Amino acid sequence: MIIEVLLSTKSVGGEDNFAPMGMKRIDETMVLVRPFRDSRTWANLNERGFAVASITDSILPFVHAVVKDRLPDHFPAYLVPCGVIEDPCGWAELELKRISLEGDRGHCLFEIAYEESRRPFEGFNRSRCAILEALVAATRIHVRGKEPFLEEFRRAVELTDRTGGEEERLALRLIGELTGGIG
Ligand SMILES: Cc1cc2nc3c(=O)[nH]c(=O)nc-3n(C[C@H](O)[C@H](O)[C@H](O)COP(=O)(O)O)c2cc1C
Repeated sequence: MIIEVLLSTKSVGGEDNFAPMGMKRIDETMVLVRPFRDSRTWANLNERGFAVASITDSILPFVHAVVKDRLPDHFPAYLVPCGVIEDPCGWAELELKRISLEGDRGHCLFEIAYEESRRPFEGFNRSRCAILEALVAATRIHVRGKEPFLEEFRRAVELTDRTGGEEERLALRLIGELTGGIG
């Protein structure tokens, strides 16, 4: 199973970076992340072999991490030089063990150096799930074109009207500004 996390890394120059990434748990101690080769995450992982995977049920950190209008609020991890997002459900501090490129995606195998659970997951919300899908599609517009994004975005607008709150409406507004929305 793949879990969507906020993966933070750091550049050689010390700049923090946060990006939504899928993370697959291999076993008790290892996880796999597959960043595209054109991502900042991939560049950082080639320079510095550390990362933090933050788990949250809040949608805004995912959106900020794609829009790059601001860094998600965060605090320093204990064992690796990367940030944990504020108010996480939990996080894993990761040490890179193997890195290779397969086509246009990296294959980054990490050992879990430290792991903590902080609070329960709030529960599924249909608006947030739909926004996450629209956000994935927004990051692939340059490859797939705008139509797949528009389909997800319209669905996210509809479900946010029915089941979302303030945070979700802000998330949609930010994605709309990034992509030009349905215009
Ligand atoms: C839920 C979600 C999951 C994503 N999973 C991945 C992934 O596994 N690999 C990847 O390269 N990009 C993934 N993306 C897209 C990146 O987050 C996006 O391209 C981001 O801008 C990369 O940031 P960076 O250049 O700072 O690394 C995902 C996006 C979302 C919203």
